[in-house]
Amino acid sequence: MNKNSFFSQFTTQNISIEQFLEKGFGSASSNIALIKYWGKRDLSLNLPLTSSLSLSLGDLGTQTTLSLHSKREADQYSINGVVLLRNEPTYQRLYRFLSPFRPKDHHFELRSVNTVPTKAGLASSASGYAALAGALDALFAWNLDEPSLSRLARLGSGSASRSVLKEGFALWNRGERADGMDCYAKRIDQRWSSLRWVILPVDFSPKKIGSKEAMQQTFATSPFGSKWVQRVAQELEIAVKAISEKDFAALGAVMERNAFAMHALMRSAKPRISYFQPQTIAIIQWIYRLRSDGGLPVFMTMDAGPNIKLLLEEKSTKALKTAIEQESALFQSHQPIWINPWERVNI
Ligand code: PMV
Repeated sequence: MNKNSFFSQFTTQNISIEQFLEKGFGSASSNIALIKYWGKRDLSLNLPLTSSLSLSLGDLGTQTTLSLHSKREADQYSINGVVLLRNEPTYQRLYRFLSPFRPKDHHFELRSVNTVPTKAGLASSASGYAALAGALDALFAWNLDEPSLSRLARLGSGSASRSVLKEGFALWNRGERADGMDCYAKRIDQRWSSLRWVILPVDFSPKKIGSKEAMQQTFATSPFGSKWVQRVAQELEIAVKAISEKDFAALGAVMERNAFAMHALMRSAKPRISYFQPQTIAIIQWIYRLRSDGGLPVFMTMDAGPNIKLLLEEKSTKALKTAIEQESALFQSHQPIWINPWERVNI
């Protein structure tokens, strides 16, 4: 594929890689899906089977600086100051993503700093590829519009298409077109400033099966794939309505149902996929108790990792903090991380 037809996979703007600046900088907040993306309709373009919906992780994300060099032998990528080896999967994935943008006889230097634990089901690839899309845009001074940036980030990681939007809710449209030009994320214009995330860490070590492979395994073997697709469409409608009405109980409930349906779907794959650890289950049971016995309106979600993310309203913060203190044995290894989705201080 020549360069121009590659560029036409994400933008109709006229762009080139002939000229570039000394450095390009991009930053992005990570995001957590309220209604999940699980399953692809096109592998190479990262086109999803369903639309999905997310809320930003505010201060947790990635900052990336990109530059080009003519006197080097190879690309150099570092994450949090650690230089990646060329045989590492993360290096190879970045290399594949960046290759179509390489001017002749040049090599990239990429430096990323994550304020979100890398590869822990905390969507570091979402903010990573969204920040990288921004850094490419800045390096080549393209001035891409938001849909083009979202499609570009999507080519690196599906959920990154949602992280291009600077804050708040993002709705990533599945699109119908085979070329993916209608498949990008849009902002939902609703500032719900009392919402908060709390990450309850279980294990931050890299996951055993990545989301790409896990999605493929799910849809190749589970008997429930088409049920999931139907269900997501309905749940998305409920979630969008709940956001427009600021109905917290409705949003929390549909978010939680959707996440557990996704994990049930994975469990129905052959071989089964499970990101649950014993501590994950202990936390889930504790949340159920907090809600039923304590009347505390907090809802949970989980991605491709064992950590739990809670959605709550600011007014429940104090009660949740007290409940966490009382249950300190559950949170011995890592402290909970409190996030205001609307604050982007360090990103
Ligand atoms: O964008 P990926 O390939 O890292 O997949 C993300 C999958 C989930 O985090 C489980 C769900 C989502 O919508 O973010």
